[in-house]
Amino acid sequence: MGTQMIHNKNGQINIVLNENKVTNIDPVKNQENISKDPFAHIDQELSSFVGMDNLKRKIKEIYATIIINEKRSQMGLTNTKQVLHMLFKGNPGTGKTTVARKLAKLYFDMNLLSKGHFIEAERADLVGEYIGQTAQKTRALVQKALGGILFIDEAYSLARGGERDFGKEAIDTLVKHMEDNGDDFVLILAGYPFEMERFLTLNPGLKSRFPFILEFPDYDVDQLLEIARQMASEREYQLSKEAEWKLRNFLYKQQKLANINFSNARFIRNVIEHSIRMQAVRLLYKDNISPDELILLTGNDLKLEDINSIW
Ligand SMILES: Nc1ncnc2c1ncn2[C@@H]1O[C@H](COP(=O)(O)OP(=O)(O)O)[C@@H](O)[C@H]1O
Ligand SMILES: [Mg+2]
Repeated sequence: MGTQMIHNKNGQINIVLNENKVTNIDPVKNQENISKDPFAHIDQELSSFVGMDNLKRKIKEIYATIIINEKRSQMGLTNTKQVLHMLFKGNPGTGKTTVARKLAKLYFDMNLLSKGHFIEAERADLVGEYIGQTAQKTRALVQKALGGILFIDEAYSLARGGERDFGKEAIDTLVKHMEDNGDDFVLILAGYPFEMERFLTLNPGLKSRFPFILEFPDYDVDQLLEIARQMASEREYQLSKEAEWKLRNFLYKQQKLANINFSNARFIRNVIEHSIRMQAVRLLYKDNISPDELILLTGNDLKLEDINSIW
């Protein structure tokens, strides 16, 4: 007997603890889908993320805990429910939103969430203008998110105005729902590291409700270059040697300057998308364009000096 993840026709995955229970499965397809590595599906889903080793480890821990808990309860042992609410701390462009979105899918695949949808919200979506409106707005948002993930960006802004601010009401309402609907609802609060720390200090009761606090560190130059290559290749483009060299130099300079406006992987995405447009303009002047030319982004296509239009 082993733990397996079986893909059904909807692309949904059932976690199967006892293989004897599995019936009506096409053996060939089954062979393809069953992997000896219990973490293969997680690895596959997270493979497009450069770095993020800590995150990948945490997700595997959660998955393992859930499966083992399931086995424990089958054998009559105490089964401690795993709470999945999370705090994400990181600068802009470090992948917080992208990861949260991916988690919604993964948790659905793991049968932890019934719908696996993703709702992104910010202060204005929760906080109202008059008394009573905030609780109502927040409740409605949580209702919409049930079965999925509610992701609140720049969550520290809920604590902006202190005790008398309606943000406090939003936090209290969220906390209440975290307890009431904890089984089929994941709340993720995200924001800049320093502000999120302060937010927790101002709301001391919160920390214990978020068993997972994940840090999203800034990327180093090699990781950013890897992300650039990946983003280009996803779009069927390729950076020329010169373009890579130019980008690497620029990134080293930003790192030296410790530029606080630098937006990590989002900057890289903007660079790639901008240079794709620059390449298009350049090629439009040419006759007989070869496939290689359509793919290659050259050093000249990367207008890094025109930085304000990229950021
Ligand atoms: N580790 C990574 N590997 C590949 N792409 C990444 C990674 N982190 C972020 N990105 C990309 O960078 C962009 C910005 O990420 P995002 O999730 O919006 O950051 P944040 O929410 O922290 O501001 C997105 O296009 C995302 O796909
Ligand atoms: Mg974001």
